[in-house]
Amino acid sequence: MYINFWYPVATSEELTGEQPRRVQILGLKFVAFRDTQGLAHVLSDTCVHRGASLGKGRLKDGCVECPYHGWRYDGDGRCVAIPSLAEGEKPPARAKVDSYPVQEKYGIVFAFLGDLPADERPPIWDVSEFDQPDWRANRLVVFEVDYYYERSIENGLDPAHNEFVHPNQGAPQVQHDFRKHPIEIEEHPWGGQFKVSFDHPDQEIGLLASKEIGHDKANGVVAGSGHLGPNTLVTMIHFNETNMFHQYFFEAPIDNSHTRIFFLNMRHFMMEPEKDEMIIDINMQIAKEDIDVMSEVDPIRTPSTNSKEILLPTDRPIVRYREWLRDWDARGWRIDWKTLQAQRGDVAFAIPSPSRRASKNWVLDPVPLLTP
Ligand code: FES
Ligand SMILES: [Fe+2]
Repeated sequence: MYINFWYPVATSEELTGEQPRRVQILGLKFVAFRDTQGLAHVLSDTCVHRGASLGKGRLKDGCVECPYHGWRYDGDGRCVAIPSLAEGEKPPARAKVDSYPVQEKYGIVFAFLGDLPADERPPIWDVSEFDQPDWRANRLVVFEVDYYYERSIENGLDPAHNEFVHPNQGAPQVQHDFRKHPIEIEEHPWGGQFKVSFDHPDQEIGLLASKEIGHDKANGVVAGSGHLGPNTLVTMIHFNETNMFHQYFFEAPIDNSHTRIFFLNMRHFMMEPEKDEMIIDINMQIAKEDIDVMSEVDPIRTPSTNSKEILLPTDRPIVRYREWLRDWDARGWRIDWKTLQAQRGDVAFAIPSPSRRASKNWVLDPVPLLTP
């Protein structure tokens, strides 16, 4: 698990403005709330007075109020009121908690969990079709799985599992001509994308295959996947030039064996709103087929060396994803989970926020990171 990426914290609807919301991401607790203007904020959950959970408190005047002694924190994480101080006394300068950059997009509140300055941060995936009239966004679906988020992303980058795990989806079979047409990965600054064509019993489907990839066969569906950062998975399924799904998994690792997935499905056909629930049902059946297999994968987490598995040419996108992870390891962004676990209970940690680069004197220790 890595600092310095955007993580989905809550749906816009979940942040009602009435109650703070407490969530766990990367093994740590956060509190999310809206101020009086309706702007979303995400803070570290631990009150720096004596450690109570801010997420268990309440909202007052656009601030979150600690349930223990009523210290109040604004959206920037500054403590602005301490009821037990005498009149005229100000909260101490150290009375602040980490506040994380927030963006609200696609009905999701994202927080940047890290300390990089704005111009060095990786982006959130741009769902450019989100507002286009010929595309429709389904209601967001949020679900939790009992496996590690990297295994989930790898599953999405794996073109060879479909015909076995999802036989009810028309049994699309990956075209086995990788020697002639190895999987090409289009790189971008924070990940990559590939496209693969699938044979499909329906000859009408998949003319795009020959056009886009240059395959000899023109009887397949073109599907592709990609990732941005360690935790965003993009799947594009083009049945033909008009029938298309684009699916986005924005993933929040809860800890090192549980993941919360925010699933945005965009479609370019069946535009009627009444079709939403049916499409969700089909998508969740497919997700369940993946979950059944993925929940039993051993080890739960991606092995630290590829020699502990046998990887084939169809696993190339997964190998490339793992290379990206090693890049982010080398930048020192990987959380040292073993140390975190060993010290938990004795030390309260926070993901360092960008303000830690400008001011010192923070009460909570920064989360331990693996040194490259
Ligand atoms: S622990 Fe939060 S106000 Fe005392
Ligand atoms: Fe799958």
